[in-house]
Amino acid sequence: MAEFTAVVHGAAEVATATGGLGSDDPAGIVEDGSIAVVDGAVAAVGPTDEVTREYPPENAAHEVDASGQAVIPGYVDSHTHACFAGDRADEFEAKLRGTTYGELLASGGGIHRTVRATRAASDDELLGDLLDHLDVMVAHGTTTVEVKSGYGLDTETELRMLDVVDRADDRHPVDVVATFMGAHAVPRDYGDPGGDGTSGTGAPVDADDYVDRVVDEQLPAVVDQGVAEFCDVFCDEGAFTVDQSRRVLRAGAERGLTPKVHAEELAHRGGAKLAAEVGAASADHLLHATDEDVAALVAAGVTPVLLPGTAFGLGADYADARAMVEAGAPVAVATDFNPNCHSQSVGFASALACVEMGLTPAEALIAGTKHAALALDRTDGLGTLREGAPGDAVVLAAPSHVHIPYQYGTNVVDAVLKDGSVVSTPTHESYDREVQP
Ligand code: NIG
Ligand code: FE
Repeated sequence: MAEFTAVVHGAAEVATATGGLGSDDPAGIVEDGSIAVVDGAVAAVGPTDEVTREYPPENAAHEVDASGQAVIPGYVDSHTHACFAGDRADEFEAKLRGTTYGELLASGGGIHRTVRATRAASDDELLGDLLDHLDVMVAHGTTTVEVKSGYGLDTETELRMLDVVDRADDRHPVDVVATFMGAHAVPRDYGDPGGDGTSGTGAPVDADDYVDRVVDEQLPAVVDQGVAEFCDVFCDEGAFTVDQSRRVLRAGAERGLTPKVHAEELAHRGGAKLAAEVGAASADHLLHATDEDVAALVAAGVTPVLLPGTAFGLGADYADARAMVEAGAPVAVATDFNPNCHSQSVGFASALACVEMGLTPAEALIAGTKHAALALDRTDGLGTLREGAPGDAVVLAAPSHVHIPYQYGTNVVDAVLKDGSVVSTPTHESYDREVQP
């Protein structure tokens, strides 16, 4: 028998995120709306009287009275590096004093520092940290997240990271999608794998030799392991060239991993056109993308994933989201959560997308939900609240989706449902506010 999982009823608005680009109503608003979830999927969405007549709230396993509140789909955070050890708060401070991301990387800091820490961490430490991060994410409304490897840069640690991602997916209500990113940086000689990562000479290894290792050693092992679904490369100044990136992505695609590209972040290097050429699911960052790049992405059906939190932390210029929307691109917005961009809130990224990149609140909403699902090749309605979509929904402590960017810096999430079960109620666990007489 079908399990009648949840009814969220009486919402001031249900933002279904079903409207498309160029629509008058991208957020797909239903006023005075309700949703019903049966067997983990949305069974009905519409006006409260209609939905509750067919699905009486008192019969549901989870009844959520959303009077005066807005309901949105669970966020799909389509670009993170959430599996890592340590932090780089001191580098954040150095960047505020003028040191650049490229300088930190070139001097053995940045990604290299996180590689050393990640290699030295145990599986249990990595898993514990990742589960903690997922708790923070779900409290901010994220119900699906993509997590990349890429802080191992050797076969053993890349496989360990992906295994940790897989175990986190099993243990945590948030769905975790794995991406292999052995080509995240050209490694240095860090010393013995499994050591503390500092016994080597620290000298950079030859980039082409490393690409050989990614293609000939890491990729086959990653495919055998069977966890990763996507293959990503950092195609940029100080990382991999277009030719090196193409080799990795083509080899990955031949073995069934869908390409993704970190493109045009620090400089314009041709990663966006490469993403179009190889039919990538997404091209990400795009701070330096040209109109021609955007046209190529649109023609090839590649989803642009914009990461304004990274530009914010780097003090860099933002990607031109407005121009991409005008060009017909289904712009997605994600956090890029990593030690260089320690933000786990898609809502905060949405606020930046509105204020700094010219999106409307409704466009920012579909960028973090419906379009983000496209960046993960999901076509089952993920990121929307339409009939048949996963029952992933967020009830806001606010009357409309506009309050997400409007209340920037505040977590406006009141309750989170994953597959129709309430999995997080961040604002309910507050102190007792009763005023003493
Ligand atoms: O997407 N740009 C490359 N990769 C990450 C940063 C990773 C790091 O600095 O640790 C990014 O921003
Ligand atoms: Fe990234």
